[in-house]
Amino acid sequence: ADRYVVIGNPVAHSLSPTIHARFSEQTGEALEYTTLLAPVDGFAQSVGAFFSGGGRGANITLPFKVEALRFADEASARAKHAGAANFLAVRDGRVFADNTDGAGLVTDLRANLGFTLRGARILLLGAGGAARGVIAPLTQAGPSRIVLANRTLAKAQELADHFPGLVACGLESIANAPFDLVVNATSTSTRGEALALPDNLFAPGALAYDMAYGPAARAFVERARALGAARASDGLGMLVEQAAESFQLWRGKRPQTAPVLAELRARA
Ligand code: ATR
Repeated sequence: ADRYVVIGNPVAHSLSPTIHARFSEQTGEALEYTTLLAPVDGFAQSVGAFFSGGGRGANITLPFKVEALRFADEASARAKHAGAANFLAVRDGRVFADNTDGAGLVTDLRANLGFTLRGARILLLGAGGAARGVIAPLTQAGPSRIVLANRTLAKAQELADHFPGLVACGLESIANAPFDLVVNATSTSTRGEALALPDNLFAPGALAYDMAYGPAARAFVERARALGAARASDGLGMLVEQAAESFQLWRGKRPQTAPVLAELRARA
């Protein structure tokens, strides 16, 4: 069977092998998908060895997404926009990079959470790699505005210079509240740090969304509900949807995500 991996550090607890195993069963596409732990300073060597040994594709997780883009021979526009890649594929001996995270978020919001992005007022928290990957897809979905708030204002401003129409501000002085959607793309969730939020953020019916999933997302989800968010979700659906987008790019078949997401939710 064709071989695929998710490369990261750490990577042992990744749900991606389970997700792709289900996609493989569903579609009848025979493939093997496993984890590959790369040393923090050894990404290029690990992924190079995997591809020269016949590997067909890789998903990339922390901390290698920026390096993955540099490693590739070619990249999609959305990967270049994001400055990072979570997807690599070998095509005619060349390594192609893409970024399916933003599409994963947009599909989860629309299809799984029933959220209407068109006309929505969106607040994106954070200006690191995770935020950067989703700005373009969110912008393309036609919101009425996107405000980017970051602890370090200069980093938000730098991104606003790249993406016209984006309003940049600091975390203590969030502009243009309230919002219909508040997305946490800071690393506070995965690192277990607290994120201070003002109490006027959420419009009636608003959705709060943390790009992390499981216990990591709990603090933000609970805080958002306490501050009046009508709904709050972790990022498990985004993980499954970026996987589906990756699977389709590799195999040309779109798997069904709903049963896989339901199975993972039932386990948690
Ligand atoms: P990632 O790839 O996960 O986005 P990153 O590129 O290191 O990681 O970016 C981390 C993001 O989380 C940044 O926006 C960071 O804010 P700064 O630019 O001010 O560093 C944000 N962040 C990290 N810890 C934070 C905290 N304790 N409070 C608020 N924001 C935090």
